[in-house]
Parts: sequence; C-alpha cells; structure tokens
Amino acid sequence: MLAVSPYNQLALSGAGPVKDIKIFDTTLRDGEQAPGIALSPEDKIRIALALDDLGVDYIEAGFAASGKTEKDIITKLSGMNLNARVCSLARTVRSDIDAVIDTGIDFVHTFIATSDLHMKYKLKMTSDEVRARAVETVEYAKAHGLEVQFSCEDATRSDLGFMKTILLDVQSAGASSVNIPDTVGVITPRAMEYLIGELRRTLDIPISVHCHNDMGLAVANTLAAVDAGASICHACVNGIGERAGNASLEEVALNLFANYRVQTIDLKKIGGVSKIVERVTGFTLAGNKPIVGKNAFAHESGIHVHGVMNNTSTYEPFLPELVGVDRQIVIGKHSGVHSVRGRLDELGVRFPDDHMNDLMAMIKDIAIGGKMIDDAELLAIVDNILWKNETPAKSISLDELTVLTGKNITSTATASVTLSDGGKRTAAETGVGPVDAAINAIRRSINDKITMEEYKLSAITGKSDSICEVTVMLKNVQNDGSLTVGKAVGLDIVETSVDATMAAINRDFARRRKE
Ligand code: KIV
Ligand code: ZN
Repeated sequence: MLAVSPYNQLALSGAGPVKDIKIFDTTLRDGEQAPGIALSPEDKIRIALALDDLGVDYIEAGFAASGKTEKDIITKLSGMNLNARVCSLARTVRSDIDAVIDTGIDFVHTFIATSDLHMKYKLKMTSDEVRARAVETVEYAKAHGLEVQFSCEDATRSDLGFMKTILLDVQSAGASSVNIPDTVGVITPRAMEYLIGELRRTLDIPISVHCHNDMGLAVANTLAAVDAGASICHACVNGIGERAGNASLEEVALNLFANYRVQTIDLKKIGGVSKIVERVTGFTLAGNKPIVGKNAFAHESGIHVHGVMNNTSTYEPFLPELVGVDRQIVIGKHSGVHSVRGRLDELGVRFPDDHMNDLMAMIKDIAIGGKMIDDAELLAIVDNILWKNETPAKSISLDELTVLTGKNITSTATASVTLSDGGKRTAAETGVGPVDAAINAIRRSINDKITMEEYKLSAITGKSDSICEVTVMLKNVQNDGSLTVGKAVGLDIVETSVDATMAAINRDFARRRKE
C-alpha cells in the first residue's frame, strides 16, 4: 500500500512519464572509499552477490588499477556470470584501462575532472589537454572491446560549454553513456534539472548521475536529474561513500517506485542487503535513516500507534514489507494504553484491565531514561505485576538503603526499615558484592533468622541496559523453616534484588501472621 502525496503524480504529468531507469551501484567502489571502510575480498564478493540478487543493473566493483587484490576480485566477479554488468573505475590513462582489460570484464567507467578548479590545481592540465586525454582513452577502451561510461569529475562546477564539447567528443569516440557527478555535493535540485536538461538536449546517449550528499541533497538531486532525462542513477547501499556519502540506493529506488511508478530493483530485498552492508562495513546506520534505519517503521507515541493500528497509512507512507523490514510498535516512555494493550494482544497475553494502571506506571518508570521495552521485557513486567498482585500488602517497609562498593573495597550496606508494629531499625552489613551486602543489611535490620537459599538473576535481553529479573528464595529458620519466594524486575541489579528480597520477606511475614 502506497500513501504518498497525490501532488507527486500531478507534478509528473506535465513532464511525461519517466521510464526504464537503470541502477548503477557503486557501493563496492565509491562506498568503499568512505574513510574507515576496508572490505576483504570475501566481503566484496558477498556484497556483489547480494546486489546481483537485489537486481541492480551495474555493479561498480572497484578500481582495477589500484592493486592486485582489487584486480583479482574484479576478475573473480567477471567469471561469476552475474546478471548485473560488472564494471571497474579507471582514470583516463592507458595503464588503468589495461588493468580493466586484464580482469576480463567488458565495461569501464572512466573519468577525468573538467572543472577549472580541478584542472588547474589537481591535474595541472589545460582544457584542451583534458579533452584530448578523454577522447584518446575512450577510443583506446573501445578498441579493446570495452563498453565505456565517461564521467566529467566535478561536473557541477564545470563550465557548461566545455562539458558539452568534451561530452560530444566522447560520444563520437564511442562512449555508450556519460555520467554527471556532483562530486562534492554542491548543486541544488533545480540547478541539476537545468544542467541535465541542457545536456539531454545536446547528447544522444544515455545520461547518468552520481550525487554526493555533502549538503544532504544527493537523493533529491538524483531525482531531479531523472526529471530532466537522466536514465542511469549511481547509488550506494545505505548511502555510504566518500565524506557524507552518495545517494542512497534504497532511497533512490523506493522514490522511483513510489513517486515515479518505476520499478528498478527487487524492493523487498532492500532490508536484507542493507543489513549485510551494515555488518560487513561496520558503518552503523543512524536510527532515523530512511527506509532501513531501526526507527523507520517504529512507533511509540500513543497517538501514532493508535493511528497505525487502525490504518497503517496514517503514519506510514508505505508498508515495511515492501522493502523487507519490520514494523515495530515500541513500548517506551511515550506509549499509551492502546499500544501496550495492542502489543499484549498480539503476544496472546490476557492482562486484566484493573491492573493496567500499574502496568503503565511501571513501564513509564523503567522507560524514563529513553529505554525501549522489548517483548521479553514487557512479558517480565507483566508477570511481575500479576505476581505482585497475588502477594499480600506490605507489612515491613524499607525506608533507606545505602550501598558502598568499588574495586578493592569490601562492599558495605546500611538498611533502615519500619517494622509492622511501627518500630524502626537500622543495621549495617558487609557482603561479597553490593547485592550481597544490601541483602545482608536488610536481613539484619529485620532481626529475623532468614537465610537466602536461592538467588537467581537473569537479564531479560542481552543488552547492557536490559531489564533484569531477580528471584530469591528465603528460608525462615527461626520459625517453621518454611521457604518463601520473592520476585522483582527492574533496571538496576541491586535495587531489583532488594525489591525481590523485600517481597519475599513480606510474603513470609504475612503468611505467618495468618497462621
Ligand atoms: O564523485 C565523483 O566524482 C566520482 C567520480 C570518480 C565519478 O566518484
Ligand atoms: Zn563519487
């Protein structure tokens, strides 16, 4: 289900339908150039296979001339019979083209800078020299059986007249497409539309775009280029790449589908490919990354959850299954009764309405610092509330507890309690750790002969901020030697252990009073 703006189609109808857009993936080349990413040959092959399965049209697998390992990977990919065209980057120098030829692939993406800035300070070449080099390289590559895409590096800061000349020249030399990189992400969508429009009217071969995200406009600029007639989009999975990255593949492909009605890749495989790239590159996605970030389909606030539960389109422009990710109804500080009740229903848990306030209060307590409560934790809280409601009202209360602990010191705790007859007692004790010291101090303060028979601590999920559950079993050795169990859940191990101990003490106390 798509619930995008109706204005998108209205705006498109004047420009004529956009069709047959090709995706040129450069995750393994520009993506890998991101500082901090170094992919092993196995990683690269794994990503290439995932991209092929995703259905991209081109895979820029690397830069063959940069070294033997890179060349070997491209050679290996060339023999793997992928559906995607495998391509290598090359400078406009013969030795780079030779390195590509050696790999056995039949497609090269060659580039040279065309802006005055780059020609003067980086290349130290005149525009005539640049033009001659571009033509010569395209001819050389063509003569060796390669298909060629030619890029004007820093195109968006290059003179338009010069670009038209050089691009017409490489077109005559046999390039099958030209690429317009916004190398440092400086153009605006309107200007991109103007630039591509000018080039579209000048050239006969397909135009490609390669947008960097330095000013956050990479995807918008890619779409603007499509609006003006570009038909090949360079993109990287998760938007990785030099500096602020490249146009994100998933965002470009989804926009083409949702807003232009153009199918490019197999959208439902996006989530899986994004995860592979995230894991392999070590580039952790921001939670709010569109489409694949962990919050992209997460709803916590009461109003939103209520809306989504009635009709997902209220707060989701498209369904998560469209892109192979999951919706998450997050239970946290902003959750309302609807979300919690809805989640419990989904989990098949019957929870009495008359304890709902207790449950909400406990959720807010635990989530106050921004913690999200997952299913296992929610179940532990529910269990605890139901269990607590079976336990008798307190007769002994813990008024104060201080615990002193650290490295190379004996953990010490002081507990002050009010007994059932109103009497107050304070006692201090040591222990082998803060939990032991706290429980010892409580036991001493109530002056009862209670021993701890069992203590069980479990983290509900495997994270450092997860909720813990403590179960204790106390034995009343002074009286009938009976065993009493106490349980508690919470964020802090010491506090939760103390709560469980107090619950057991009060249960034991209440039971004996009844007898
Ligand atoms: O950003 C850029 O200009 C590039 C070129 C090599 C095409 O990545
Ligand atoms: Zn780039």
